[in-house]
Amino acid sequence: MFSSVVNHMKGYTKIKRNPSNGMEADETKLKVPSVLWIPLLICGALLFFVDVFQIKYYSLVPTKAPLKAAFSGRKSLAGFAINTPGCRIPYMDPFDEHIMKFIEAPDAPECNKGVPALYKSNLTSVYLVNASLAFYDVMDPGELKCCYQAFWRKKPKADEGDNKVTYSVECYSLGDSANIDEEFIKVQCTYENNTIYKDMFAFVPLKNTTPVAVRISPRPLSVLVVGLDAVSRLNLHRQMPETVAYLTGIGAVELLGYNKVGDNTFPNLVPVLTGMFEGELRNSCWPTDKHHFDKCHFLWDDYKLKGYTTVYGEDSSWMGLFNYQRRGFQKQPTDYAYNFFNRIAEKEIGNAHSMNVDQCEGARLVYKDLLEYIGRFATTMDKNDVPYFGFFWGASLSHDYLNKPKLGDEDYRDFFKNLKEGGHLERTALVFMSDHGIRWGDIRQTYQGRMEERLPFVIISLPAWYRERYRRAYSNLQKNVRRLTTPFDLHETLKDLSSPYNLTEETTTTTTNSRGYSLFKEISPKRTCDDAEISSHWCTCQESFEINKTSTVVVQAANFAVDYINGELEGYAQCANLTLDVISNARLMTHESHIEGDNKIKDYMLTIRTLPGEGIFEMTVRHSVVRGKFEVIGSISRLNLYGKQSSCISDFHLKLYCYCKSLLY
Ligand SMILES: *[C@@H]1O[C@H](CO)[C@@H](O)[C@H](O)[C@H]1NC(C)=O
Ligand SMILES: *[C@@H]1O[C@H](CO)[C@@H](O)[C@H](O)[C@H]1NC(C)=O
Ligand SMILES: *[C@@H]1O[C@H](CO)[C@@H](O)[C@H](O)[C@H]1NC(C)=O
Ligand SMILES: *[C@@H]1O[C@H](CO)[C@@H](O)[C@H](O)[C@H]1NC(C)=O
Ligand SMILES: *[C@@H]1O[C@H](CO)[C@@H](O)[C@H](O)[C@H]1NC(C)=O
Ligand SMILES: *[C@@H]1O[C@H](CO)[C@@H](O)[C@H](O)[C@H]1NC(C)=O
Repeated sequence: MFSSVVNHMKGYTKIKRNPSNGMEADETKLKVPSVLWIPLLICGALLFFVDVFQIKYYSLVPTKAPLKAAFSGRKSLAGFAINTPGCRIPYMDPFDEHIMKFIEAPDAPECNKGVPALYKSNLTSVYLVNASLAFYDVMDPGELKCCYQAFWRKKPKADEGDNKVTYSVECYSLGDSANIDEEFIKVQCTYENNTIYKDMFAFVPLKNTTPVAVRISPRPLSVLVVGLDAVSRLNLHRQMPETVAYLTGIGAVELLGYNKVGDNTFPNLVPVLTGMFEGELRNSCWPTDKHHFDKCHFLWDDYKLKGYTTVYGEDSSWMGLFNYQRRGFQKQPTDYAYNFFNRIAEKEIGNAHSMNVDQCEGARLVYKDLLEYIGRFATTMDKNDVPYFGFFWGASLSHDYLNKPKLGDEDYRDFFKNLKEGGHLERTALVFMSDHGIRWGDIRQTYQGRMEERLPFVIISLPAWYRERYRRAYSNLQKNVRRLTTPFDLHETLKDLSSPYNLTEETTTTTTNSRGYSLFKEISPKRTCDDAEISSHWCTCQESFEINKTSTVVVQAANFAVDYINGELEGYAQCANLTLDVISNARLMTHESHIEGDNKIKDYMLTIRTLPGEGIFEMTVRHSVVRGKFEVIGSISRLNLYGKQSSCISDFHLKLYCYCKSLLY
């Protein structure tokens, strides 16, 4: 159950595990001669104290909500990102002073400890980089022996995870360069009988996935979704201003009220890909984590039925959407799949490990390799007039750190610029998006950080001719920029794009009531979170007021929440019973649908700390005033690291809560 990947390489051990909250730091143990242990232990003890002290220090700092940002808008109607009868989301400044103290220049990783690659690849070939020979101490290039093997995904058995590949038996000899017809290859070089180099390359050979129906249309419109994990809309503006400026400069549209519907990646992408909540997916086609996803219907299946070629690809795929503590698919779900390549590449040549991710594979940055692949894919498909649906998700750049996306700003800008200048965006609808903001750490304990976590970015680019041709649909999309929107809407939009020439008067008029609307229809300004089925806990529409933490009802609600957590842990004798330590923040939420009458229901959003272990939790507790009852709404978020505290339990929801009794003695 406990997904843990252990690599033994070059004298150090890397253990990476549990990315669900990005909460278990990696452990990197250097092998050190034993005489050095004593000073090391002393240093270690010191570090431990500093560390522990800091944790205490941070968690005791009272979290001040930036009231200015939240409520300046009450006086004027400006000051809101969304301001409709159904939903008001306050305007927030990406550079607010309360946030800027968490913003710092990130460290750039050094791939392969600075040793450059011996081979590079382009669209069709691999070729030797002569200038690198010196780094590998190759004095006599004639003695360098390189060869490549192809590898393929291997279909897993019914009880196996989806992470196996098969290699070609033969290793084809490789000189200065070679044209490659294979999809994925592994290159190995020996010099004087020692293996000195290993690398993996991904290509996009044209497969026999002949499209039919779509070619009838005036011209094909491909759909490309490029995801970047855990980046709020405001963090995108803070960290990747060049990318934002480039996309808005070419007429892309940015949704200001895209509100997440679940905690982490899976419950926010399942709605995009299937139109279902996670629970609905379970009931319809995926009974347990041990089942593969083959029986489920995803967006790419719609596109496939219409003759499109399909592709799916993630980096950090060991913790991928369908693979982290899940079993993926038996039959490969899309025509092309980059995941298996990434999985093997990270396993074989992953390096510059940080928190949950390998930042590099060999001498290349992992996120750049994904972008390179997407570029090759678009080039090959467009060159051959093959319409496609592509869904890509990048986590290696942004999964664990608020500030790392900054490192990718220029690369992402250049990636989009190359797509545009290569003519690809004239035949492709592009969605650049995230699933949620950063979910833990110091910023999450501020009001704005909490709001940002619930408001990921979505930027949509349509070809100019398409915007012209479907003016009504495009004008609706522009109106929806300032409406409350969700992953379910994105699903309907992507479904609409699978019949790109059907955006008639009829299909762009909102008629029925549903939880998801295509963004080509005007979303009602009256829409509330209830209408959109966004649970109160995730809803950013509401206004909230900081209230007295010591009031009786707040203390009752906090104790109720602790009892609730203890209830969840019932039956797990290895976990300690938690008690309430401190209530660090309490806000009363007011939302439109419950405000009438005499406020029969009140929602309190609480931040509390429990003992033992000083876990910091955030939850929404609903108080039914008349009945005098409490209820926890939505999920409980853990705002600080649980680290090894929960190592005695494998259920990854309960890991958030469990403090192992074994640590008490
Ligand atoms: C790729 O590299 C090969 C070998 O160096 C070269 O012959 C070919 O022209 C290159 N192709 C492109 C598209 O750059
Ligand atoms: C690399 O070296 C080989 C032989 O040493 C030579 O044939 C080739 O042209 C060189 N390539 C470049 C790009 O310099
Ligand atoms: C490489 O291995 C072969 C066969 O084992 C041996 O004959 C040769 O001397 C070795 N070369 C070097 C440079 O060690
Ligand atoms: C086009 O839209 C109409 C009206 O909603 C619908 O009945 C029809 O099935 C759609 N056609 C395609 C190809 O999706
Ligand atoms: C909160 O309430 C307590 C007692 O009810 C009172 O002593 C305290 O001054 C209040 N604090 C604030 C900030 O209003
Ligand atoms: C757990 O702690 C609560 C106080 O928060 C207490 O009421 C309860 O009895 C304890 N339960 C167990 C099993 O010790």
